[in-house]
Amino acid sequence: MYEDQWATERRRLEKGRHISGPDGLRPRWRKAVFTRLLDVLGAGLRVTPFYARGQANALNLRRVELALRLPGLPPSFDGYRILHLSDTHLDVLPELAAVVRGLLEGAEVDLLAVTGDVHGDHATPVARSAGLLGEALRGIKVTGAQLAILGNHDSQAMADQLMGMGFEVLVNRSVVIRRGDGRLVFTGLDDVNSFYTEAARIALDAEVQPAGSDDCRVALVHSAEMADHAARAGYALYLAGHTHGGQICLPGGRPLVTTLRRCRHGAVGLWHEGAMIGYTSAGVGVSHPPVRFNCQGEVAFITLRC
Ligand SMILES: [Fe+2]
Repeated sequence: MYEDQWATERRRLEKGRHISGPDGLRPRWRKAVFTRLLDVLGAGLRVTPFYARGQANALNLRRVELALRLPGLPPSFDGYRILHLSDTHLDVLPELAAVVRGLLEGAEVDLLAVTGDVHGDHATPVARSAGLLGEALRGIKVTGAQLAILGNHDSQAMADQLMGMGFEVLVNRSVVIRRGDGRLVFTGLDDVNSFYTEAARIALDAEVQPAGSDDCRVALVHSAEMADHAARAGYALYLAGHTHGGQICLPGGRPLVTTLRRCRHGAVGLWHEGAMIGYTSAGVGVSHPPVRFNCQGEVAFITLRC
């Protein structure tokens, strides 16, 4: 019933004249203007030699290995392996599916976390992006849960696609993962950059039964924009994406644009908010124009340590 109510509200927001973020509403036309400007930039780039170079950069993914010490992690989760993928957008650059498959082939992880923006181009059916993600994941073995959340490019229909692929889609709710005598709580939010509702903040703050247990918690949120709330709520880890690491950056990797409205220190890579560790993936894929400069896409293997 909750999922039905969420789906109805989400579809209403998708058709609305405003975009909703934690800092309030903003008119959708502004985003449309920004998107149009990117289209013009892409069209200009396409007639230059930089376009081919930028696309080659976008297809050159790296495999990131991180070991993160989490305060309060139950000993039974020491060594727990998470594959973190974000912003796959494989409909925008379908050749990336084979690249990802090559990088993941033969790997084994305990949990897969996809932090949104599986879809890219609104004109493409969501089944196309989801199907390409399925192809990209064919060679990896996930022994535990496959969790996914939605990004600002994902419509409500993407949740249905991902559930059909065996993902547990977390829209403003938590799931408890057990290992030995320990438990780790993952709380996933609907995208807060464009589809924020109070349900997101309530889910972040909600206790997970049994109430009062001293859980180690991981937040999955498409953008870092709830980092301060999550840190105050006592989360140990916050996994995000959304920024694509900037996608087009200055030499040295400084993003020209992040589109974060708040918590901008969480735009790229590892960061901290109070005692909480945050990691923002540079993303697998790209949005239009489908190029990268001074910013490499990634798949991230995260090993949790006590
Ligand atoms: Fe994205």
